[in-house]
Formats: sequence, structure tokens, C-alpha cells
Amino acid sequence: MTKHDDTSILVTGSTGTVGSEVVKQLASPSSVHGVIKAAVHSRDKADKFKSYNSVEIVDIDYNRSETIADALENVDKLFWLTPLAPNMTEISSNLVKEAKKNDVRYIVKLSVMGADAEPGTTIGRVHRQEEKIIEESGIPYTFLRCTAFMQNFVNFFGPTIKTQNAFYIPAGDGKVSFVDVRDIAVVATEILTKSNAKKSQQYENKAYAITGEEALSYSQAAEILSNEIGKKISYIDIPEEDARKAMKEAGIDGWHVDALMELYRIIRADHASQTTATVEEIIGRKPLSLAQFAKDYVEFFR
Ligand SMILES: NC(=O)c1ccc[n+]([C@@H]2O[C@H](COP(=O)([O-])OP(=O)(O)OC[C@H]3O[C@@H](n4cnc5c(N)ncnc54)[C@H](OP(=O)(O)O)[C@@H]3O)[C@@H](O)[C@H]2O)c1
Repeated sequence: MTKHDDTSILVTGSTGTVGSEVVKQLASPSSVHGVIKAAVHSRDKADKFKSYNSVEIVDIDYNRSETIADALENVDKLFWLTPLAPNMTEISSNLVKEAKKNDVRYIVKLSVMGADAEPGTTIGRVHRQEEKIIEESGIPYTFLRCTAFMQNFVNFFGPTIKTQNAFYIPAGDGKVSFVDVRDIAVVATEILTKSNAKKSQQYENKAYAITGEEALSYSQAAEILSNEIGKKISYIDIPEEDARKAMKEAGIDGWHVDALMELYRIIRADHASQTTATVEEIIGRKPLSLAQFAKDYVEFFR
């Protein structure tokens, strides 16, 4: 089959926290592009793209390689997102194989800050393995190595913030340079839509650490959320053992619990507080603040 005349961009993980914002950005009138495809795992979640006339829905299940082959047909550029799992590298090998078959010209991969650290963390190492698979493919790429998402306050801590005005994690007083996923999406869109132009060759085969503008402890974050949401929200620093127990009771498997506990140890040791100017350098404005995030997501906390 011949390729579309227009550039075709496929967004994986499109119904999730980051992917849905990437689709939104690509579909916005200010974005210059050809065909946008949202690769959808659960069809019922594709309803969120109904209002975007320019978005095509394609099915994908990383555990069924034939669906990866179909989704990647005629795709020029790929926003690559794999859910955190021990088999991420297996999925990535399949994705790369099909990307090469289809002459994919560019990959923007969502990665994690510290992916290249030694010895690093379990989460960092699985992302680095994926990065290496992409590097070895020869397909031009950009890795977006992101710090913790502000949206974790909604997705993970939101339920107890709503019901108990508190969230419970073993993060000590360590600071985190939280980033809003909407900024990650604007960065990804900038790279995906400009990677033909000469100017954007600067992004090619590079890895960027993506952070917010300032590092905050979870106590400071709770104070900002309290001010913006209009109710007192408390951060309760719990022992690791209590966090493990709660996660296991919530049905989270051992691999994920261990990986997250490792991350909280990194945060407690204040090794997650590095900030970079990447967002501003790429999109020309400062990253969104946690206060702005809280204003925009206020209804999720009430
Ligand atoms: N949270 C953080 O602070 C943070 C920081 C840095 C990096 N990261 C990285 O960000 C990634 C997670 O991004 P996210 O928060 O946007 O994820 P998310 O909200 O959990 O979304 C995951 C997406 O992947 C899809 N998916 C799940 N299983 C699939 C399968 N078998 N085949 C195809 N698609 C499948 C989901 O669709 P369904 O819902 O239909 O299954 C959903 O669209 C991970 O790689 C993580 O390591 C996270």
C-alpha cells in the first residue's frame, strides 16, 4: 500500500492521562499536521474523541501483535506510550518491528526521568530498555523523560482527597519537580508536527528531562492544593510498610508495589527534585504551575 500524502501520526495510550492530552493537542486548530490516529485499547473509552472530527480511531492491544501491525499501517510518526509493566520491552520489540516494516519516520517516546541513571530504579530500567530498542532500530526519535505527573494527585490520591481531605504516601519531606501532562503533550506535539522542518532536527535522537518549574515537597503541594480548592488537604507521610499493605489491599501486584516503593525511597532521599528548562525551551513558555493545575482540575477534588 502507498502512504498517505499527508503525514499520519499515531498516538498510542491515547485514552490515558498523557495520550488523551496528546490527541487533544494534535487535533487543536493551531497544530499543523495531516492524519491523526488514536490507537485505542478499550473501544468504550474512544467516546472522548467524538468531538474531534479529524481523529481516526484504530484498535490496538499490545498483547495481540496482529493489532499492532494493523494500527501501524501507513503511519509516519508515532507517539509511543506503554503502560508500566514488566513486559514493556516485549511490547516495544513488537512495536519497533512493525514501525520498521511501515517505514515509520519518527518516534516520540514517553519515558521517565532518570531512565539513564546507574544503577537506577526498576521503572527507569524498563524505560531505558525500551529506549535502547528504539535507538537500535535506526528510526529517528526523541525521548521525553518525565518527572512525576501533577495529574497523579487526581488519578492516585484523588479518591482519599475527596473522601478524607488527605492523601497518604511514604514520601517524607523530599521534593518533586511535578510536571503537568498538558505540558508534556504540547512538547510532544511540537516535536511530532515539526520534525520535518530543519529547525526541529535539533530534537532528533535526543533525550529531554521534562519537569515543572519548581520542586515541591508533598506538604507544600498539599498547601497549594488546599488554597486553590478551598478546603484543607493534608499530606500524611506514612511508613513504607503501611503503603505496601494499602497497595496490596487495593489489588496492586507485587512488581508494581516494589517499583513504586523504590521510587518513594528516591523521593525521600530528595533525588527527584531536579528541574530543567526543557519545557520553556521547546514550547516558548514556562511550565504550568501546581496552582494552575489545581484551579483547572478543581472539580476532580470536590
Ligand atoms: N505517573 C507518573 O508520574 C509518570 C511519570 C513519568 C513517566 N510515567 C510513565 O507514563 C506511562 C503511563 O502513562 P499514563 O499515565 O498516560 O497511562 P494511563 O493513564 O494508565 O494510560 C495507559 C494507556 O495505555 C492503554 N493500554 C493499556 N493496556 C494496553 C494494551 N494491552 N494495549 C494497548 N494499549 C493499552 C490504556 O488503554 P485502556 O485504559 O483502554 O486499557 C491507556 O490508554 C508509563 O510508561 C509510566 O512509566 C508516569
